[in-house]
Amino acid sequence: MAEANLKTDEILLDMRGISKTYPGVQALEDADFSVRRGEIHGLVGKNGAGKSTLMGVLMGIRDADSGSVAMDGQELVDASPQTMLDAGISYVPQHINLLNTLTVAENILVGNLPKNRFGLVDWKAVNEDSQARLSRLGLEMDVRQPVEGLSVAERTMLAIAKALFANARLIILDEPTAALSRVEIDLLFSFVRAQQEQGVAFIYISHHLEEVFEICDRVTVMRDGRIVGTREISEIDVPILIHMMVGGGVQEYERESAAGEQTVFEVRGLSRRGAYEHVDLSMNRGEVLGLSGLQGSGVDELAQALFGLDRLGVGEVLVDGEPYRPGSPKQAFESGVAYLPQDRHRFGLVQLRSVRENVTYSVLDRLVGRLGVLMRAGEQQITEEYIDKLGIVTPGTEQRTLLLSGGNQQKVVFAKLAATQPHVLILHEPTQGVDVQAKVDIFNIIDDLSAQGVAILIISSEVRELIGLCDRILVMYEGRITDEFSRAAKDMRPEDILLAIEGGRNVGDS
Ligand SMILES: Nc1ncnc2c1ncn2[C@@H]1O[C@H](COP(=O)(O)OP(=O)(O)OP(=O)(O)O)[C@@H](O)[C@H]1O
Ligand SMILES: [Mg+2]
Repeated sequence: MAEANLKTDEILLDMRGISKTYPGVQALEDADFSVRRGEIHGLVGKNGAGKSTLMGVLMGIRDADSGSVAMDGQELVDASPQTMLDAGISYVPQHINLLNTLTVAENILVGNLPKNRFGLVDWKAVNEDSQARLSRLGLEMDVRQPVEGLSVAERTMLAIAKALFANARLIILDEPTAALSRVEIDLLFSFVRAQQEQGVAFIYISHHLEEVFEICDRVTVMRDGRIVGTREISEIDVPILIHMMVGGGVQEYERESAAGEQTVFEVRGLSRRGAYEHVDLSMNRGEVLGLSGLQGSGVDELAQALFGLDRLGVGEVLVDGEPYRPGSPKQAFESGVAYLPQDRHRFGLVQLRSVRENVTYSVLDRLVGRLGVLMRAGEQQITEEYIDKLGIVTPGTEQRTLLLSGGNQQKVVFAKLAATQPHVLILHEPTQGVDVQAKVDIFNIIDDLSAQGVAILIISSEVRELIGLCDRILVMYEGRITDEFSRAAKDMRPEDILLAIEGGRNVGDS
């Protein structure tokens, strides 16, 4: 699909016979993986297939038990993170590690700031130099602004740019589009393609298979620690890819509404300055309600406030008709409201988050931990049931969650919440990072819970998933609920919902 000018069949990266065993887990088994110069190479597979482990070996942060890694035909002995960086291999993680309070320019030149003849930092030179460097990559942004003001797509592009300034020739992108809107994805993809045309190669890890088809030249599929195969994108389609990933078809998901009459959750005129305004919403027993909006639309703030992680502001919330104003996640939980945070990592990452968030995470953890104890004591069977239902890849029920793959950790948190039998369940991006099959498994559990009468609020940017799952979908834009779509009204069309999310209707109205 992409231009063939600088792309050649020359092998840039060649990994051969890589094996890696953990106690009770063969994470990689005799894996061969190679990337051509200037290609975008997808790496896909179910949760626990071995993608992160293989990339860990490539980055020199995991020792393989056997196998070899070569760049440009040169074997890299003594694999350490520094060796791999020196060889031009760079990793852009999902949660980008930039110095948020510093400016774009400082982030680019950190450790290397130009000084004037008095030995002081020459800020004019810092700004001009970094601006020029970005322009050479075709990236236009004001380098004097702090990084915290950038959108997620801009941060990702900046992280890629930094890798290129450090002479990267192979850049690993780990689920780069998880938190991006369609507009931002387009921006990121065109930037990546522009770098590809200069001969830079990318490894693209994703569970969004459509995007793999959009951006990649070739794709490699992993299953159970092995390489199933590498294919030219032009020679396959999504069903073939899924078949390679799961070794069969994925069961289709279809759902009928289980919504009852009785209102169990109601938000009336809720406003918090700078976050959301006059939010009204209600959910009946067994109803599945979707809520979607861009970053900054207020959806994230609303979700956190509803779970007692932040101030609710003025207005009212009722759970089963009782006033609900949780001062903490613990209180929310005791009132029958359970919450799946958008991203467990974010809550766990001490250095990137505030003290408050770290503390509240431990509250959440204790609650979940208490349940874990319960399970161990009497309900081993529930755990096993969920391991089975969600296809959690683990050597056993006692494995520390920390040692599971990213997607499998996500499934464990979801299982624990589902098992608490809440009245109201708030799910924040529940399918982020989980594989195609696990999504369907999660949908089925949502379906079971709603049939049992649990009212479920799903906050998600995956519009197509919401359409399959929800009775109604609300859209939030600039702090307000601006649109409602419903299965009953038969108006849940993806294009219309996406347009509403991007504020399209507002623009049209004004
Ligand atoms: N430090 C560790 N100790 C024990 N087992 C581990 C460790 N790291 C990974 N594993 C196991 O190795 C296997 C491969 O995990 P890996 O993280 O590579 O999967 P993945 O393909 O990246 O999955 P995901 O899509 O969920 O991120 C999993 O079964 C995982 O539980
Ligand atoms: Mg992983």
